[in-house]
Amino acid sequence: MKNLLILVQFCLYTFVSWSQPVLPKSQIFENGVVVSAHPEASLVGSQILKMGGNAVDAAIAIQFALAVVYPNAGNIGGGGFMIYADSKGKIDALDFREKAPAKAHKDMYLDEKGEVIKNKSLYGSLAAGVPGSVRGMAEAHKKYGSLPWEQLINPAIILAGQGYPITERQANLLNEYQERFLKYNQTPNAFNSTKAWKKGDIFIQSDLAKTLARIAKKGSNGFYKGKTAMLIRKHMKKHNGIITSKDLKQYNAVWRKPIEVSYKDYSIITMPPPSSGGIALGQLLKMVESRSLKNIEFENPLRYNILAEAEKRVYADRSKYLGDPDFVKVPISGLMDSLYCTKRMSNFVEMQPTAQKDITYGMPEGYESTETTHFSVADKYGTLVSITTTLNGNYGSSVVVEGAGFMLNNEMDDFSAKPGTPNMFGLIGSKANQIEPNKRMLSSMTPTIIKKGKKPLFALGSPGGGTIITTVFQVVLNLLEYKMDLEQAVNKSRFHHQWTPDILFLEQNQNDESIVNKLNKIGYKIERPNFLGCVGAVQIREDGSLLGVGDKRGDDCAAGF
Ligand code: GLY
Repeated sequence: MKNLLILVQFCLYTFVSWSQPVLPKSQIFENGVVVSAHPEASLVGSQILKMGGNAVDAAIAIQFALAVVYPNAGNIGGGGFMIYADSKGKIDALDFREKAPAKAHKDMYLDEKGEVIKNKSLYGSLAAGVPGSVRGMAEAHKKYGSLPWEQLINPAIILAGQGYPITERQANLLNEYQERFLKYNQTPNAFNSTKAWKKGDIFIQSDLAKTLARIAKKGSNGFYKGKTAMLIRKHMKKHNGIITSKDLKQYNAVWRKPIEVSYKDYSIITMPPPSSGGIALGQLLKMVESRSLKNIEFENPLRYNILAEAEKRVYADRSKYLGDPDFVKVPISGLMDSLYCTKRMSNFVEMQPTAQKDITYGMPEGYESTETTHFSVADKYGTLVSITTTLNGNYGSSVVVEGAGFMLNNEMDDFSAKPGTPNMFGLIGSKANQIEPNKRMLSSMTPTIIKKGKKPLFALGSPGGGTIITTVFQVVLNLLEYKMDLEQAVNKSRFHHQWTPDILFLEQNQNDESIVNKLNKIGYKIERPNFLGCVGAVQIREDGSLLGVGDKRGDDCAAGF
């Protein structure tokens, strides 16, 4: 029976992979829905739900499918976080963040004068942390999975081996990074060809198909031990990397207590450290909860002003206090305490940006001391799963492990290479996030679930490095304060402030362009990125039907049945 199912699946994906699926950005289903950054991965997830899988089964299948069809961020060579909430009130958080290799040390990206060496933490084998995704998916499967493991990986194997047609966005990105692939990969692989990619080209990854087949057969040992581990070790030796067999063997994913913050009638379930996202989201919500936002019009500069000033204070705290909780004491409840958060806003004067120098980190109680991708799943049992996963930058370190066909992350750049020196997202850090052997680097990934009482209502999250937190924050407020429907809440324009640099980032194509002048006039320095974040969200609606919404900013799309 199992083999028959796999055969049916094989035939199905053979068909799927040669035609460009066109899926809606937003759609309602009765029995299950997924939203991911690529139509092929959304189809895989929805197919697993149709075969009787639960939300975690679908999420595992999507994670592996994204490693094939969205290789700039989907991965087996990176890491991520998962938030889980079911209809019985159980909540959970899984940390499969990469770790620093045992040979890593705090000055590894500094020259003899103590200055940061440009690009050393970003490209090449030395930029990679020990990958966590495969162990993470195995842990998720052990605890919550219901379908056989191989069945969840087979679609990814087929997509890698037979290829799939790339979208226009993907063709452009592959062309943009081609020079870098050629620089960092001397042996041929699927990425470092010299051809100009165009929409509809079939992207085949034969080595990756073989690696995935080993994982399907042997579980996480098919990655952390045996041939795949040997290929990683060989690659590291040849290219001056420092990940060893011992690092791979010892890598562990960790179940953690989720952050749970109340906001009015709702609870927000989100990721604890080593992500900064959950604490920062909790602080932001507590800083604005008493400010009657629903009475301030969406395009009133005061709304921007209040939110941006809260964001500045939260990022100042982030830079000081947050790091891997297995290495540093993070004052979690102190930082999210309502009184502490109110006090942090006490020097805020309406319609005035507080000067950068007048904001520093606070003193919470208990203190002794583009690219990423998000997907969300809802199943017919009322369970929501929210996963954000990453290689860090697009295509991570740009390094494909020779013979194994997958990209290695450049997550080491999420450590603070030198206190006060910004990383690729302009984020600064302190001792709490300095490099130490086996430590997890601080993240901003914020997979989140919103509940009312026991009932999970929404799962959401976003890519975007340091801007992930403010993206999730603003979508949560759009839903809970402005009572927008999910599609509006996801697609509304957004902005971002992270204290340093002292710049308010406003998306191009604001809903109301006049806001730019108004905010400029009251003293904000403004920059205009094309977009901020790219949200994938699902909702269990009041009548029990399931809505999926993919952000207009990406290829994200919904599939279900
Ligand atoms: N690599 C982006 C993050 O984890 O925040």
